[in-house]
Amino acid sequence: MLTLRSPQELFDLCVENEGKGQSISFVPTMGYLHEGHMSLIREGRRRGDLLVVSIYVNPLQFAPSEDLESYPRSPERDAALCEEAGVDILFLPSSETLYPNGYQTTVSIGPLADGLCGASRPGHFDGVCTVVLKLFNLVRPKVALFGSKDYQQLQVIRAMVRDLNLGVEVVGMPIVRDPDGLAMSSRNAYLSAGQRAQALCLSQSLDLAEQVVAAGERDSAVILAAVQSHIEQHDSAEIDYVNLVDASSLEMVNGSIGPSSLVALAIRFGNTRLIDNRVLRLPPVPSGEHSVVV
Ligand code: PAJ
Repeated sequence: MLTLRSPQELFDLCVENEGKGQSISFVPTMGYLHEGHMSLIREGRRRGDLLVVSIYVNPLQFAPSEDLESYPRSPERDAALCEEAGVDILFLPSSETLYPNGYQTTVSIGPLADGLCGASRPGHFDGVCTVVLKLFNLVRPKVALFGSKDYQQLQVIRAMVRDLNLGVEVVGMPIVRDPDGLAMSSRNAYLSAGQRAQALCLSQSLDLAEQVVAAGERDSAVILAAVQSHIEQHDSAEIDYVNLVDASSLEMVNGSIGPSSLVALAIRFGNTRLIDNRVLRLPPVPSGEHSVVV
């Protein structure tokens, strides 16, 4: 595995390999790697001749009040995990090289970035897309892999790739969870034992939403009320948002849920903000029956 810090060196090497007909797969991360990241890296290994992973805690996507300084880091362990997983190039840029003095250009995302996490983290997705676009330009990947734990991020990146004709295949990967259901996240490291136990309410409330829908409920307000009341039974959980949106447009669903809706949650435990989501798919209408449009 080659470790590179210089954007120019990375670019030159990727262009050279592309010229030799190698297809490049790419997994951008902020490090402190866990099984969620590793699932992306393993799939990236399968899909490309040359696998590039980046680790960079991108200041542009953190608000001044957020955890940029304290974001967990484990560079040696991350490098060992990448090496073991067959990563070809590990890119570890610095802010001085990615955003040198005079840097002034950012990507501006449209309404897809306004709701959900975008509402409580203004500018966050512009920061994410700016760094991802820069990384795409350096790596020139054929395929890039993202987790659906950050569902809105995945949709926003798909929109950027489509709108700016980037020609990168964006692959969305399933959410990897701890055995008890908590979605893996680098930020889980911040949780106290008590908070960790209560954090199960995220995945449990999503299970509940699925059960309510399986029992025939279609009214978004009723489904959301069930989710919300489950979370409210946990005294250290503070709701940032609990929403039901269309899984593609991320527009709020009012009234009856559609064939593919998304329950999305952001819950705070002290200073730690956790997110999770679940796509609620309605069973297809059995043949011979017709849904009635009124
Ligand atoms: P980070 O939070 O490190 O996540 C890197 C990638 O791992 C993202 O695509 C994220 O969705 C995925 N991921 C994280 N936890 C996961 C889980 N439990 N299951 C499946 N995938 C998971 O997301 C970022 O970094 C940054 O915003 C980045 C895209 C690197 C831009 O700075």
